[in-house]
Amino acid sequence: MKKILITGGAGFIGSHVVRRFTTQYPTYQIYNLDALTYAGNLENLSDIDALPNYHFVKGDITDAAFIDELFQLHDFTGVIHLAAESHVDRSISDPLSFVMTNVVGTANLLNAARKAWKDELGKPDRTRLFYHVSTDEVYGELHDPNEFFLETTKYDPRSPYSASKASSDHFVRAYHATYKLPVVISNCSNNYGPNHFPEKLIPLMIHNIIQNKPLPVYGKGENVRDWLYVEDHARAIDVIFHKGMVGETYNIGGHNEWKNLDLVLLLCKTMDEKLGREAGTSEKLITYVTDRAGHDLRYAIDATKLKNELAWEPSLQFAEGLERTVDWYLNNTAWLENVTSGTYQKYYEGMYAIR
Ligand code: NAD
Ligand code: DAU
Repeated sequence: MKKILITGGAGFIGSHVVRRFTTQYPTYQIYNLDALTYAGNLENLSDIDALPNYHFVKGDITDAAFIDELFQLHDFTGVIHLAAESHVDRSISDPLSFVMTNVVGTANLLNAARKAWKDELGKPDRTRLFYHVSTDEVYGELHDPNEFFLETTKYDPRSPYSASKASSDHFVRAYHATYKLPVVISNCSNNYGPNHFPEKLIPLMIHNIIQNKPLPVYGKGENVRDWLYVEDHARAIDVIFHKGMVGETYNIGGHNEWKNLDLVLLLCKTMDEKLGREAGTSEKLITYVTDRAGHDLRYAIDATKLKNELAWEPSLQFAEGLERTVDWYLNNTAWLENVTSGTYQKYYEGMYAIR
């Protein structure tokens, strides 16, 4: 029987991973460990939380004693580690919380797994697996339009967020080399889809268009991101968890590059149509604001290894994914209201410095 610990399962990507694993693998017992920070929301899992193979544990990965205890209590066969502080802008205003959760938290989990699995480390059978979910931001930024991030690209993190994720990746590899902990890592590009917290570009723009609020575009809107539908990421995690080679890294990406401004314009057009507004209405809300400090110019993933070795490819065209996403937000205004009330707004005071 597989008993899998998924960390950060109440967040954006984690909730889609928990849904996939609980529904596709009814014989697996899925434990969702989440501290329920501002980004964690159990509403994301309301459709599956009554399933008999789903279990929620509220807890903080920075608490080493608690994590050790959890691994003693449950004989986990696998870990899929997503819990993290994930927003670059927050990492600029509060870098140390990223060190705590992303670096110390990951080291606590690795350490607990090392102790709990000590009798099996280095054995040829793959009875256990520690899967670390990471980001393409560890590779830094691209300038040459013909260049892509490969698994072999040198690490060059440029924000406190990406530095903390890069550090956690190094710890994962160090535990593999030193203790023979069976690990696998994936580095994915920007995700989008339902349940995305509206501090990130796409859901923030959707929210502000609905509310007729300014659409803050950083700098000139020329930075490029490679967007992947979140369920395609969850499927890639499923494939890598089951078929990935221990000790390997897999890049995951959408082959879907967009300049921020072009993407915002597309969202404005789509939302005008959906909301029955006159064409060009939402575009007028675009407001150019001070650029993000150290703003990475372009991310673009080469996911050939994952395609060739594990037969994964994105399944959804961007037009369809974006439409599904917009429809989800329009049909779930209560969810949006819930997460945008209170502290979230206060946090952003002063951040939309309009030039
Ligand atoms: P998110 O911010 O939406 O969710 C993070 C979750 O982790 C939340 O539920 C939060 O409550 C939980 N959490 C935070 N600190 C915790 C702690 N100390 N202990 C326990 N739980 C804690 O993040 P996301 O966008 O879903 O990203 C999930 C993972 O995927 C992260 O590791 C991120 O680096 C990685 N990733 C994200 C993207 C993306 O585009 N969002 C792309 C590539 C990789
Ligand atoms: O590449 C993967 C990463 O993608 C993940 O590891 C991170 O967890 C995730 O947050 C995301 O990071 P980005 O910084 O790329 O995402 P964000 O949505 O914050 O910003 C996307 C782009 O849009 C970026 O170039 C900054 C810009 N932006 C963002 C916001 C929130 C704006 O122009 N205006 C905004 O208000």
